[in-house]
Amino acid sequence: MNPLNHVAIIMDGNGRWGLKNKNSRNAGHKAGLHTVEKIIKVSIKNDIRFLTLYAFSTENWKRPKKEIDYLFKLLETFLTKRIDDLNKQNIKLKIIGIKNFSKKLNKLLNLSEKKTSENTKLQINLALNYGSKFELINAIKKLNKKKEKINEKNLNKFLQTKNIPDPDLLIRTGNTKRLSNFLLWQLAYSEIFFERKLWPDFDGNDFEKIIKKFKFIKRNFGKI
Ligand code: FPP
Repeated sequence: MNPLNHVAIIMDGNGRWGLKNKNSRNAGHKAGLHTVEKIIKVSIKNDIRFLTLYAFSTENWKRPKKEIDYLFKLLETFLTKRIDDLNKQNIKLKIIGIKNFSKKLNKLLNLSEKKTSENTKLQINLALNYGSKFELINAIKKLNKKKEKINEKNLNKFLQTKNIPDPDLLIRTGNTKRLSNFLLWQLAYSEIFFERKLWPDFDGNDFEKIIKKFKFIKRNFGKI
C-alpha cells in the first residue's frame, strides 16, 4: 500500500456552484470553505502530514474586485475565528505565494503562521497569490545570484515548498483537466485525480474514496 504523506488540491468549481445554487459566485466560495473544513478532518483521520490548497493564483487578480475582496474577507474571517482551534489540533499553517495583501491580512497571515509554527500533526500549505512559473523563475534567479550549481537539490532550496516533500496525490475538482500554474515542478511524479464534482459538492466520502484508490496504485517513479 502506498504511503500518503502529501495531498495537493485545486479547489475548482466554487463560482459555478454559487451561480447554479444561489445565483452568486461568492456564495460558492463561502460553501467551498465548508468543504475545506471537511477535507482537513479527513486528512487528520488518514494521518496525512501535508495538505496544500490552491486558494488564489497569481492569475486570479484578473477577477472582478468584488469577488477578490470577498475571497480575502472570507479568509480573514476564517483565520480570525478558527486559528486557535487549528492550533489546538496541532495543525501548522504555512502560506506559499507572495504575501502582498492588505496590511491587516498580511499581519494576520504572519501571526497565524507564527502561532502554529511548532505544530506537527498536519501542515496546511495555503497557496495564496501563488504561481508556479514565478516561483521557478525566482528560484533560478536566486541560484544564479548565489552562483550555486543548477541541480534538483539546489533548486528545491529556493522554492516556496522548501522542506516540504512533493505531493503524492493531486486532486482537482470541477471537471476541468489542467494544472493552472500549480506546483508544476513538485507534481512531476504525483498521482492525479480529476473529479467531476464542483468543490462545494465534494465531501469527506469523495476524498476517502480517492485515498483508497491511491493506496493501491502501482507507483513506478520511472522504474518498471
Ligand atoms: C476556484 O473556483 C476557487 C478559488 C479561486 C478560490 C478557492 C477558495 C475557497 C475554496 C474558499 C476559501 C478558502 C479559504 C481557505 C479562505 P472558481 O471560482 O474558479 O470556480 P469556477 O471554475 O466555477 O469559476
